[in-house]
Amino acid sequence: MDFWFPTETVKEGEVEFLAPRLKAFVKEAWEYAPSKAPVFYNPAMELNRDLAVLALQTYQRLVKRELAVCEPLTGCGVRGIRLAREVEGVRKAVLNDISSDAARLTSFNVNLNGLADKVQVDNKDANFLLSSYGAPRKRFDYVDIDPFGSPVPYIDSALRALRNGGLVALTATDMAPLCGVHAKACLRKYGGKPLRTEYCHELAVRLLIGSLVMLAAKHDIGVNAVFSYSDYNYVRTYATASYGAKSADNSVQGMGYILHCFSCFHRESPNGLTSPLRRDCPGCGSKLQIAGPLWVGPLWDKGFCSRLIIEAKRKNLRNKVKILSMLSLISREIHAPVTYYAIDKLCDKFNLPVPSLSKVIDGLTVAGFLAVATHFSSKAVRTNTSATILKEMVARLAKVSGS
Ligand SMILES: C[S@@+](CC[C@H](N)C(=O)[O-])C[C@H]1O[C@@H](n2cnc3c(N)ncnc32)[C@H](O)[C@@H]1O
Ligand SMILES: [Zn+2]
Repeated sequence: MDFWFPTETVKEGEVEFLAPRLKAFVKEAWEYAPSKAPVFYNPAMELNRDLAVLALQTYQRLVKRELAVCEPLTGCGVRGIRLAREVEGVRKAVLNDISSDAARLTSFNVNLNGLADKVQVDNKDANFLLSSYGAPRKRFDYVDIDPFGSPVPYIDSALRALRNGGLVALTATDMAPLCGVHAKACLRKYGGKPLRTEYCHELAVRLLIGSLVMLAAKHDIGVNAVFSYSDYNYVRTYATASYGAKSADNSVQGMGYILHCFSCFHRESPNGLTSPLRRDCPGCGSKLQIAGPLWVGPLWDKGFCSRLIIEAKRKNLRNKVKILSMLSLISREIHAPVTYYAIDKLCDKFNLPVPSLSKVIDGLTVAGFLAVATHFSSKAVRTNTSATILKEMVARLAKVSGS
């Protein structure tokens, strides 16, 4: 098949596919090639796709049935093709893109990988496609929304097309709104206020899940976040859906706010959408800033993450080392408190030399506190101590290493 644009063959995971030759579409090194090419393909998202393969396999082993999956914004098809080829138990995959070039390239890649019998390719608007799978026996076990920017415009129809107990995955790359650079856009799209704190990536995941929870609640669907993370320039969450008003009510109970003090780093995460919020910082009396409403419940399910590690060890992925190190950090932060402290930011503010993260974690542990690293930042600690005690500990460590 001929394409009007330059292409090249790429290998990723266990598949080989044709992608636009990205170098042909940029004049300057700093230009972002994936969005210049006529069909989208971003090699930097390989880890995101690797984790999609692992998460879907984990889910399949948990539910122990054959799966129908949908990737309604597929670009050149690599993600959906990898799911169909690399995940045991995928019976059928529907891949779709609004761009006719993308749909044609995806069809070519489906045939190249000998998957025409189980992969169907469509060329429609994603919401239109998903809505046409909304009837009870037509729904999917897995819907993967990996768009440009925000996934929110597709969540309603993804939920409609997801069976009871199904898994939905959402990528959000609009980090400027989610991290508080464009706060109005975040409020408008996600229904929650962001904050420019050192843990804004965690807030971004929580705003994304919050938006999913509230949209699902309208359909009387509860959601359970089983795996979430941030990497590169995006955040991503995987959540299962359970039908019923009671489930939806339970999920809504995981909504709340995060209150943050920019003077002393105190933060708290009150549950509930209707209770009055504290206005002043109990640590220093300054005015507390509010993030939310957002999800203050768990970002991970322990059982799901343990099985994800087993799947990651089984596969020979190019990003295996990075994935295992991320999953190992996540497995330790699953039950740690909401939000983390960036040690360098804290030291900056109080004019202290920066101790190593391991020294801070050891110091807090010896003092009897829970203290763990986080995959969100290599310079941060999750701990159940207060900001004041943490600051004292960091100052003491600085004194010891300085004396
Ligand atoms: C970020 S790319 C997808 C990348 C792909 N998921 C992957 O893993 O490589 C987003 C894709 O969505 C497609 N798209 C944008 N708006 C759409 C819509 N309303 N319906 C269907 N596809 C759409 C674009 O053509 C583009 O190919
Ligand atoms: Zn304070």
